[in-house]
Amino acid sequence: KVYTDYFFDEPAFNTHDGGYVPLEEAKVPQQPLNVPPLLKPDKETATDTYYTVVAQTGETQFLPGAKTKTWGYNNSVLGQTIVFEKGKHIHVTLKNELPELTTFHWHGLNVIGPYVDGGCHAPVYPGKSSQIDFTLDQPAATVWLHAHPCPETAAQVYHGLAAMVLVKDEVEAKLPFPRNWGIDDIPLILQDRRFHENNQWDYRADYDPDGVQGPTALINGTVNPYFDVTTQRLRLRILDGANRREWRLHFSDDLAFTQIGSDGGIMPAPVKLTKLMLTCAERAEVIVDFSQYKPGDEVTLYSDDVPLVRFRVHQFATDETQLPEHLVDIADPTVTPGLPVRKVVMSGMDEEVMIDGKKFAMQRIDARQKVGDVQYWDITNTNTMNGGMVHPFHMHGTQFTVISRNGHEPYPNEHGYKDTVGVNPGETVRIKVKFDLPGLYMYHCHIIEHEDGGMMAQILAYTAADPNPSYKLMDMDTM
Ligand code: C2O
Ligand code: CU
Ligand code: CU
Repeated sequence: KVYTDYFFDEPAFNTHDGGYVPLEEAKVPQQPLNVPPLLKPDKETATDTYYTVVAQTGETQFLPGAKTKTWGYNNSVLGQTIVFEKGKHIHVTLKNELPELTTFHWHGLNVIGPYVDGGCHAPVYPGKSSQIDFTLDQPAATVWLHAHPCPETAAQVYHGLAAMVLVKDEVEAKLPFPRNWGIDDIPLILQDRRFHENNQWDYRADYDPDGVQGPTALINGTVNPYFDVTTQRLRLRILDGANRREWRLHFSDDLAFTQIGSDGGIMPAPVKLTKLMLTCAERAEVIVDFSQYKPGDEVTLYSDDVPLVRFRVHQFATDETQLPEHLVDIADPTVTPGLPVRKVVMSGMDEEVMIDGKKFAMQRIDARQKVGDVQYWDITNTNTMNGGMVHPFHMHGTQFTVISRNGHEPYPNEHGYKDTVGVNPGETVRIKVKFDLPGLYMYHCHIIEHEDGGMMAQILAYTAADPNPSYKLMDMDTM
C-alpha cells in the first residue's frame, strides 16, 4: 500500500495563516548541497568518547555578494554532525563563544534533565564552558542539538544554532539501509529565512509571535541545492529545523518513497508514501529508490509547489536490496494501574498561547510523574479560530508512542517512537509516556515563538528514593 496524503487537517495547514509567508524559488544558480561533516571526537577509547561543541559566531556565503552573519556549532552556521554510540560513555565540553548566554539542548536524547538535557536551566555564559557526561540507552535515531535559552530560543535557532545528531546502535547497523555519510546517507535540515539588505538576516524585523518565516528555503544551509545521486538508493534524514514552517514534501513524478524512521528511531515497519508532512522539530528517515531513472535525469523534492532539492541522477550500480517487512521492535509497556490520564491543553495563537491556561514560568513545576511509571497523556489543541493551526507538541527526556487521534488510529507513519507530534485544531492526541531517568523536563509547542511566548510547561520525573529533588532553576532575571 502506498499512502498518498499528508494526513493532517488541510484547513489547518500554515498556508491558511494570515501571516503565511510563501516560499519563493531562489533566483540564484544551483549549488551543491552542503552536507555537514561528522564531528571528530577529541579522544576515543573502547568505552568513552570525548567531544567539544563550540557555539560560535561566523559568516556564511549563502548568496552571491555579501556573506551573512550567522551562528553555528563548530561551524559558521548549523553545525558539524555529532555521532553518539549507544552504550558508550559520552563526555562533551560545551563552549560558548557567542556574545550572549546560550544552552545546548539535545532534542530527542534520553538524558538527565534539566542540566545535561540543556533546556533553559543549563546556561553557559559567554566565554565560558561546561562539561556534561552521559551514557545513552536508546535506539539508533536522528535527533538534534539546538540552543534553548528561554525566551531566546527562537532567535538563537534562527541565527543558526541547530545541528543534526545521530545515535547509532547494533540493531540499526544490521538493517539493510544505506549508511555512507554524504554519499547515500544524507541529512536534509529544512529551514527558511528572509535575506535583507546586504544578505543579512534580521530576526527582530521579521518577528511574528506565531513563528518567524522567510521566503527562501535553506537545506542544510544551502540555497537552491542539487545533490549528485551515485547510488540507486538514498537515505534522507529529514529534520524540520524551521521556527514555524511546515513542510509538505513530495517528489517529481509522484515518486513513492519509504519512511523507515521517525523522531525516536527506526519504525517497526516501513511505510510507503508519496507525500509527507513534517511539523516543527519532527524528523523522518526515508529511503528513495531511483531505479526507474537513468543518468542525466533529475528528480526534484518539493514542498507544496516549490522545489527544494534537485537530485541529479548519475550512473549507479543495481541494488536489489529488499527491506524486511518488520524492522525493529517497539516497547509497548502496560499503563501503570491507578494512574489517571494526564490532560494537557494547548490553546491560543499569537501572544495568547498557553498550556493549561498558563504561561510558562521557569520556577514553577507543573506536573510530576514517577520514573518508570507508564501514563497516558491526552494532548488537546483547542485553537480552532479561523481553521486553527497545528501545534507540534514536544517533550524533553523521553520518547513516547502515539496511541490515538480523537480516538482513532494514529497516522500510518506514527507507529514508532516520537518526541514531537503535530496536534490538529480540535483534536486530542493520546500518547503513552514513560520517563527512564529522573529530572526536570520541559514540554511545549515546537513552533519556537510559541514556546518562547509561554506555550511551555515542565514536569518533574522523580524516584521514590528522591521524591523532591531540588534543582537550581533559572528565572527571567538571571537570563
Ligand atoms: Cu527542541 Cu524544548 O526543544
Ligand atoms: Cu527538546
Ligand atoms: Cu503552537
